[in-house]
Amino acid sequence: MQGPTMVRGVSRLRMSTFSRATTTTCSTCLRSTAPLDSRIAHSRAPFHTGRRDSSAWAAAVSVAGNIVNNAITRATRGDMPSVDPLRIVAKEMKFLTGNIRKLLGSGHPSLDRAAKYYTQAEGKHVRPLIVLLMSRATSLCPKAPQRQQATLQASMGIDSSISPLSVLSDFNPSATAVAPEAETNDHPDILPSQRRLAEITELIHTASLLHDDVIDHSESRRGSPSANLEFGNKMAVLAGDFLLGRASVALARLRHAEVIELLATVIANLVEGEFMQLKNTARDERNPQWSEETLTYYLQKTYLKTASLISKSCRAAALLGGSDAATVDAAYAYGKNLGLAFQLVDDMLDYTRSEQELGKPAGADLELGLATAPLLFAWKTMPELGALVGRKFEKEGDVVRARDLVAQSDGIEQTRALAEDYAQKAVDAIAPFPDSEAKDGLIEMAVKTLKRKK
Ligand code: FPP
Ligand code: MG
Repeated sequence: MQGPTMVRGVSRLRMSTFSRATTTTCSTCLRSTAPLDSRIAHSRAPFHTGRRDSSAWAAAVSVAGNIVNNAITRATRGDMPSVDPLRIVAKEMKFLTGNIRKLLGSGHPSLDRAAKYYTQAEGKHVRPLIVLLMSRATSLCPKAPQRQQATLQASMGIDSSISPLSVLSDFNPSATAVAPEAETNDHPDILPSQRRLAEITELIHTASLLHDDVIDHSESRRGSPSANLEFGNKMAVLAGDFLLGRASVALARLRHAEVIELLATVIANLVEGEFMQLKNTARDERNPQWSEETLTYYLQKTYLKTASLISKSCRAAALLGGSDAATVDAAYAYGKNLGLAFQLVDDMLDYTRSEQELGKPAGADLELGLATAPLLFAWKTMPELGALVGRKFEKEGDVVRARDLVAQSDGIEQTRALAEDYAQKAVDAIAPFPDSEAKDGLIEMAVKTLKRKK
């Protein structure tokens, strides 16, 4: 595989700058002068073990304030030529929604409608886009000979049941005789199993949104009334369950145990992340003091809620392609860091954008009692925020006061800086991949994650 200095065009320019940026010693960082990546790599890994170790995250957070002029920042200012990630996998993306709808048919008309409801409005489809780009980018990477059998098996019969249909009793009127993949075989470097994985990631994500909108009492999603408003809470929850069921069936039909384990774990992670979010701090105290543990808790929750799906589906894409261990790990690291950056930006936009701009309620996090990154950074220098966090901004005037204090602090800037740091680490992770448009597309996704306005 090629190193960072051998990548071409846009990537070469960016990658060489990225490499320098991550190895530069940070003069004001009090914790360590080692590159951030190596500090995280050598620390205990809370994401894998579930242990709540703060050291790696404290390091990440301390670096955030010091990143002022890195390559990602410059790229987001728009003076670098960019590729369009969507164009690179346009054919697959064009069929995505149709294929997803084919997986969701029910003989019960109301269930059919509720299950397909969020496929009507144009979603961003970030997760499937990343899976497809990762599939293409890793197709050029070294293969693990021992994985070839599983790879072959995964791509055969993704539409064939394992048990007899008479036993399954799961009639799907939307399933067609023609396999969806027959429509989209333009890129032989994207396997049918990887296309199906892209659809599964969107199904799991959409199921989580159906449930999330019930939990958050949301009234709009993607510029339209949310499913809970349209169908009521009961049907919205059941529709989400149905999506998970059909996603699980599609997953089983990949016939790849490791990939099944990864994606099934994502579902558990999403629920655990959502449970963590019910509290702002691990001890859920009434009058908490700011500590690094608070940020660790927030970042662990963020991994479970957002980065788990992106990272594990990137890993699964590499596995389905028969990639070697180093490539599989790199794909995972890319997804994990991109996922963390993605959620940090999301949490920042909640403070900086209007409802009209977002297509969903703005400022919702404080209203829901959630203390996210901008507020956690502000709290460090404004201890009075502790009482508000403890009572989940419930008292009259709390939300406005918290918003004002965040605005007076550098919480937004710190959040952006931390997001930039993660985006840069995502790009660094795939540096060893050989040159390709798909790799450029993955790099651009990291840039777009920071640039996005909704
Ligand atoms: C959006 O968060 C929500 C998620 C990313 C995950 C929600 C997970 C669950 C509800 C657990 C159940 C999971 C499954 C798979 C059924 P947000 O509220 O910050 O974003 P929003 O502003 O788009 O609503
Ligand atoms: Mg929500």
